[in-house]
Amino acid sequence: MTRRLPTVTDLVVAPAVTRRLENVTVRMPAVTTLRTAGAVTRPLENVTPPAKLVLSLFPGVDLFGEAFRLAGCSVVTGPEKLFGRDIRDFHGVPGRFDLVIGGPPCQDFSSSRRGPPSGLGVEMLRHFLRIVAECDPPAFVLENVPRVPDVRLDGYQVQRFDLWDAECGGRQLRCRHFQYGDRRGWICRPKRQPVTPRGTVRGAVTRQVAVAMASQPWQNGRSFRDHCRAQGLPGSFRAPGLRKRALWWAIGNAVPLGMGLVAAEAVLAAGPRDHAADCLCGCGRLVSPRAVTATAACRKRMERLRRGGAPGTPGRRPVVTWP
Ligand SMILES: C[S@@+](CC[C@H](N)C(=O)[O-])C[C@H]1O[C@@H](n2cnc3c(N)ncnc32)[C@H](O)[C@@H]1O
Repeated sequence: MTRRLPTVTDLVVAPAVTRRLENVTVRMPAVTTLRTAGAVTRPLENVTPPAKLVLSLFPGVDLFGEAFRLAGCSVVTGPEKLFGRDIRDFHGVPGRFDLVIGGPPCQDFSSSRRGPPSGLGVEMLRHFLRIVAECDPPAFVLENVPRVPDVRLDGYQVQRFDLWDAECGGRQLRCRHFQYGDRRGWICRPKRQPVTPRGTVRGAVTRQVAVAMASQPWQNGRSFRDHCRAQGLPGSFRAPGLRKRALWWAIGNAVPLGMGLVAAEAVLAAGPRDHAADCLCGCGRLVSPRAVTATAACRKRMERLRRGGAPGTPGRRPVVTWP
């Protein structure tokens, strides 16, 4: 069977540039349909805005990175100890990334820690800041437990806000703190869901399933499928290269996917601070006219700040910096 190949006369093209290839004249689409930038030309309809390039540090099973992927970013994962790579041997590439994200190990700052802190928590926070400084992105996001120290890096203004799983559609009694650093001083405004008629997160989750995820998750009597689902994953989730117990642990240590998505969307929509509309405590909530704080918890936070003095002074969270 012979198939008829299209001839030049079969091609319907705008009148335009012609180019001679061997003996065949190929007619090219008219220049007017192309966007020209110097010598580079591309059809307009094929041009989509480039995705933001994100470097995800301390990825674990990378649910935090996955949230940014779902929000439309291109995510590159950094070294992960579970897979035999150490962040101490890693260096950032300057000027390539739009965003550096990461959730360093939180055991030293966790309220369930029994012994003295190992020092690893602060060391890993400093490696996170070192790599941000090396990559020099416009913004970074650090995710951790509520007791994590404040991070500071020259050239960035840092907003600290918390998210409860129930505010993000989840069913866990789980709160994470996010520190968003932005060179322009912009802030994020996470879209939290109202959780109870009384407006308390605790009330909402006690009526649902409160779960302890991270410490010994395989001992709390729940199935692996439920463990996955509580984190926003399908029950059949697997990570090649991880044995079952390591997988339980890595999933339990991850940012719940729904929470990650709320944080990622807020980060991607960050904008300049509006002193009249934004809550003074930096939580990213909007305030009603003439108010300065959004909730009773925000007022308490501001009161604690006033009483505690400047960051790093006694009674305040410690501060970790780089260098
Ligand atoms: C809190 S978990 C990160 C969870 C992750 N953000 C997610 O959402 O799935 C911290 C991770 O840091 C990894 N880690 C700890 N020390 C490390 C090191 N020295 N180098 C690389 N990764 C390390 C741990 O193995 C763990 O998976």
